[in-house]
Amino acid sequence: MTAKTEGPYLVTGASGQLGRSILDRLLDRGIAPIVATTRSPAKLTEYAARGIEVRRADFDEPWTLEEAFAGARRMLLVSTSDLEPGQRLKSHLAAIDAAVAAGVEHIVYTSLTNPHPDSPITFAGDHRETERRLAALGISRTVLRNNLYTDLLLASGAQAVATGRLVAAAGDGKVGYVTRADCAAAAAAALADETGTATYDITGPASVGMAEVAAVLSSLAGTTISYVPTSAAELESAMVRHGMAAPMARLLVSIDEGIAAGHLDVASTAVEDLTGSEPTSVAAFLRANAAALSGRGS
Ligand SMILES: NC(=O)c1ccc[n+]([C@@H]2O[C@H](COP(=O)([O-])OP(=O)(O)OC[C@H]3O[C@@H](n4cnc5c(N)ncnc54)[C@H](OP(=O)(O)O)[C@@H]3O)[C@@H](O)[C@H]2O)c1
Repeated sequence: MTAKTEGPYLVTGASGQLGRSILDRLLDRGIAPIVATTRSPAKLTEYAARGIEVRRADFDEPWTLEEAFAGARRMLLVSTSDLEPGQRLKSHLAAIDAAVAAGVEHIVYTSLTNPHPDSPITFAGDHRETERRLAALGISRTVLRNNLYTDLLLASGAQAVATGRLVAAAGDGKVGYVTRADCAAAAAAALADETGTATYDITGPASVGMAEVAAVLSSLAGTTISYVPTSAAELESAMVRHGMAAPMARLLVSIDEGIAAGHLDVASTAVEDLTGSEPTSVAAFLRANAAALSGRGS
């Protein structure tokens, strides 16, 4: 399928897991020309060999951005992974300012489900304020509010399979889990195809609660795995007691608090609308990755 827009198409954060998957999708579709920016160009030599122009860009070194973004018409801004509250926003704003100065006409941004002021999720504010800046500038934009990656269930699922207990502070809350691969497909489509200015909830096919995740794990493991709801305070102190850094424990528990309060209980048709393919369900994803759940995966 050919693009319905004109490039050059620029993807930031291209050496990350999502970034690479987006590049693969764009290459599969024959989209060109593509510019990939990253803090570590050496990590993308295989993509340079496939015709992608790789440039160095670090949002925290704004002087690298003018050259890195030069000539781009449509840009996919992959949100950064900094854990310090407020730092992501600073990085994103530097990238947006540089994109506007470089003459970028359309920005696709990977945001978060319901990044509203009442969300307890520690990094929701960074996404909300990034969206706000894009809106204030009035630039043509596609906001992709990615729900939680289903992929994250592999780590907690493996632990649950090993112990027989899926422990979370998520109450009866549900999540519209979406695979990273489906997020990448949606992002590639939003970059290559004309969406106008729009906001999409990027989700899997259904909202799923922890009891349902435990039931899927039970059927895959052939043993009973129970959902054990706990309080946010108990979970956070247990994580720190087991050696997790306090800011990471706070971040992870804040996600559970967001689930419990219903902020991630969103399921939409956006992935299929953008890509033409149905998103992968939690059960199908876990079944396809059953080896990783039993500790036999890579
Ligand atoms: N929905 C979810 O469940 C979920 C889960 C985890 C993360 N996320 C968000 O989605 C993003 C992509 O996910 P992922 O799985 O690909 O994460 P990842 O593999 O950890 O990648 C981190 C990304 O952040 C970029 N980055 C970090 N600091 C940067 C800086 N100073 N300047 C420019 N780019 C910077 C990296 O780019 P380079 O290394 O190429 O420079 C890379 O693309 C994450 O960064 C995070 O914002 C969402």
